[in-house]
Amino acid sequence: MKVLKISPSLMCADLLDLKTCLDTFTEEGIDYLHIDVMDGHYVPNIGLSADLCRTITSYTDIPLDVHLMVENVDQLIPQFAGFADATVSFHPEVSRHPLRSIQLIHSFGARAGIALDPSLSIEGIRYLLQEADTVCVMTVNPGYSGQELIPGMIEKIEEVSSCCEKMGYTVEVEVDGNVSWKNLPKMLKAGANVFVAGTSSIFMRGTNIRENIRRFKSLLYGNNVKGV
Ligand code: DX5
Ligand code: ZN
Repeated sequence: MKVLKISPSLMCADLLDLKTCLDTFTEEGIDYLHIDVMDGHYVPNIGLSADLCRTITSYTDIPLDVHLMVENVDQLIPQFAGFADATVSFHPEVSRHPLRSIQLIHSFGARAGIALDPSLSIEGIRYLLQEADTVCVMTVNPGYSGQELIPGMIEKIEEVSSCCEKMGYTVEVEVDGNVSWKNLPKMLKAGANVFVAGTSSIFMRGTNIRENIRRFKSLLYGNNVKGV
């Protein structure tokens, strides 16, 4: 049985109140901090930086779950893979040698992840799964928060999860994009075990983050959760 984990997406957080947010995450036992890094080329947006990660890791020990949406993957990996217990995921279609990029991430002691664009099938990454530690199924087009789930992505989570099981790979299956109160149970049933929480759950505008974390946990674990 895979451990279920929550990875709130900090690009959706109120950066003016980040300290309070991080304190709440520590108190509520959050597993990862999802860090979206964007270069304005791979995606038409600019994301979070290594400097911000340095500030965050000087304040909390919650491991970083770095999502590189960049074209120059191998150039950016050294800036993020050195953070303690970090996971660094990249989009393989922009890496010249994806297996070498995985090995580069591992050489810094970090966990390596493959982020799968909605348009790409698992076929293209099958031989990377034996080296990867996590596969991130993008359920929206990469680049922005607040988008709607792309139809067909729940089936894709099932396909990725069952393929990993069949091959005997112990990779984590992460979902990223519109992990809402409605979509979460379907994603869990489809075989995901790491959930990027953004604007449609933990960071839903005008709601309480701590209550949302507890609601998220009760959807994952039912009501036998500490603090619910
Ligand atoms: C989008 C990012 C996501 C995003 C999720 O490219 O990779 O992590 O922040 O935001 P929501 O949950 O609002 O879709
Ligand atoms: Zn992301």
